[in-house]
Amino acid sequence: MKNISEEKGFKKIYEGKAKILYFYGNDESRLVTYFKDDATAFNGQKKGTIMKKGEFNNAISSSLFKLLKSKGIDSHFIENLSEREMLVHHLKMFPVEFVVRNFTAGSLAKKMGVEEGVKLLSPVVELYFKSDELGDPMINETYVKAFDLGETKDVEEAKKIALNINEILKDFFDKNGLLLVDYKLEFGILNGKVLLADEITPDTMRLWDKITLEKVDKDRFRRDLGGVEEAYKRVYDITSNI
Ligand code: ADP
Ligand code: TMP
Ligand code: ASP
Repeated sequence: MKNISEEKGFKKIYEGKAKILYFYGNDESRLVTYFKDDATAFNGQKKGTIMKKGEFNNAISSSLFKLLKSKGIDSHFIENLSEREMLVHHLKMFPVEFVVRNFTAGSLAKKMGVEEGVKLLSPVVELYFKSDELGDPMINETYVKAFDLGETKDVEEAKKIALNINEILKDFFDKNGLLLVDYKLEFGILNGKVLLADEITPDTMRLWDKITLEKVDKDRFRRDLGGVEEAYKRVYDITSNI
């Protein structure tokens, strides 16, 4: 598996559940993110491998960052370096996950005691504290201020961007036969500006076929539904036209 960062001896600074981060040579203001085939669910309790996921996710995420850029939304994305590697700006990340939902599914369906697939009257935005040890507990803006997780105005800005992204991605996937059910975003700061970071992939989104409501995302892995690689390939094919 080609990994330019390892070949060039770039310093590995972090290995997470789905990606590895390297400094871009001596340049610590930029990072290489290497997308792995490793898949985890339920806070790492379920582990597996999805063949070619790293390649699919690198390509899908790059295409969606480009789509968003064309609509005026900046991200950490600079360019693709290889099939599994993306060059990005090194940001000061908020330790917060921003989840946006258009339909009930997953933890929201459970929490509210409703079935999955109910269309929400307006999008729901949720904040979670990024902590594997704590299982990413749900928080709100008062936690951000009280625990110094970021500037209130920056988190407000990130929420606004997350909702703008919703309109763009909902429309894009709708035109390509998929419902955008929900997704998770991460943001960071570069030179005082809030920027979208991390990834936008079937690992971090729920997408359903508009007609059959078949799942086309990581829920196929989480719930042992089979056809996992095929689902990622379908999203890859759709986004490769961007
Ligand atoms: P996790 O850390 O949850 O296991 P990953 O394996 O996807 O997830 O690791 C990628 C890590 O890189 C995440 O912790 C994410 O917050 C961080 N990250 C993503 N984009 C950037 C960026 N531009 N600058 C700094 N850190 C980033
Ligand atoms: P949830 O219904 O399990 O809370 O998930 C909501 C969305 O967030 C779904 O699209 C999957 C995504 N997600 C992540 O990307 N990372 C996570 O750790 C979790 C729990 C969810
Ligand atoms: N990313 C989380 C984990 O690795 C949860 C998930 O995506 O289901 O456990």
